[in-house]
Amino acid sequence: MELRHLRYFVAVAEEKSFNKAAERLFISQPPLSRQIRQLEEEINVTLIDRDNRPLKLTEAGEFFYDHAIQILAKSEKLKAMTMRKANSDNSISIGFVSSILYGILPKIIARFRTFYPNLEIKLQELNSWQQTQGLVDGKIDVGFGRLLFEDASIRRMVLRQESLVVAVPINHTFIKEGRTSVNLMDLTSESLFLYPTSPRPSFIDYVLELFEARNLKVKYFTEVRELHVALGLVAAGEGLTIVPKTLEHLRNQEVSYLPFEDGLLTSPIVMSVRHFDKSELLKTLLDVTYQIYDEEGFDYKREEV
Ligand code: BEZ
Repeated sequence: MELRHLRYFVAVAEEKSFNKAAERLFISQPPLSRQIRQLEEEINVTLIDRDNRPLKLTEAGEFFYDHAIQILAKSEKLKAMTMRKANSDNSISIGFVSSILYGILPKIIARFRTFYPNLEIKLQELNSWQQTQGLVDGKIDVGFGRLLFEDASIRRMVLRQESLVVAVPINHTFIKEGRTSVNLMDLTSESLFLYPTSPRPSFIDYVLELFEARNLKVKYFTEVRELHVALGLVAAGEGLTIVPKTLEHLRNQEVSYLPFEDGLLTSPIVMSVRHFDKSELLKTLLDVTYQIYDEEGFDYKREEV
């Protein structure tokens, strides 16, 4: 059985007609019918009930169709990923979520560049889900994100857990009372700005789950488009938000950042690569990241590409 047989069968199954499938495949109808017959003979199963108009799949045909489209999608993925791999010697394409850009990503890129002065480095802001798609489609070679999406062709490494902090307006009662830390319970009756509104699931859902896991419910929260909107509204004294610790230098004239009491509230920094991609560029990128972690005194667990 060859991929061609699967492609032909899928076309007939979807068009429900040999004629229309042949048109879609730019071949004539007799060879198409012959190929489907050959396929049925090889597996000794009738896949198409030819007595019906439009054509209908047999039960075994439905089963075969569901698996055939998965195999075809996998072969497309493999093609895109291999093409990207073949072109990756003189360029690397990096996807990142915006909150990571305010932290140490610029430092990592600058250090990485010193190892490969002639390399073309493409940076693309993509959310964690788009990074998964970008890796599969061969549009990026590595992604730095904060959410763990599952995909069999992608390998995810949690580089470290970054502490979360609460952004409060400088004239908020927490600050007037001289609080040096807060807990999630303190936030349940505060007005919170959570971001980003789309696509979901996003950091909003991650934060709400932190409350739910502790049987707490946020009474007042507003979903806002992005982090900067949330911080702007905090600066205006309209409420509070939760951000990763590396962002606590933003708007610090108007906003104070308080750590959580238990220090246990964190957001993972996730590096995603294509499974089995063991390129030198990725190894260097990871080494550089660990060098900077050591210099910054961050806690982390070492992974290998
Ligand atoms: C980090 O903050 O841990 C990080 C940011 C960007 C790339 C890699 C790691």
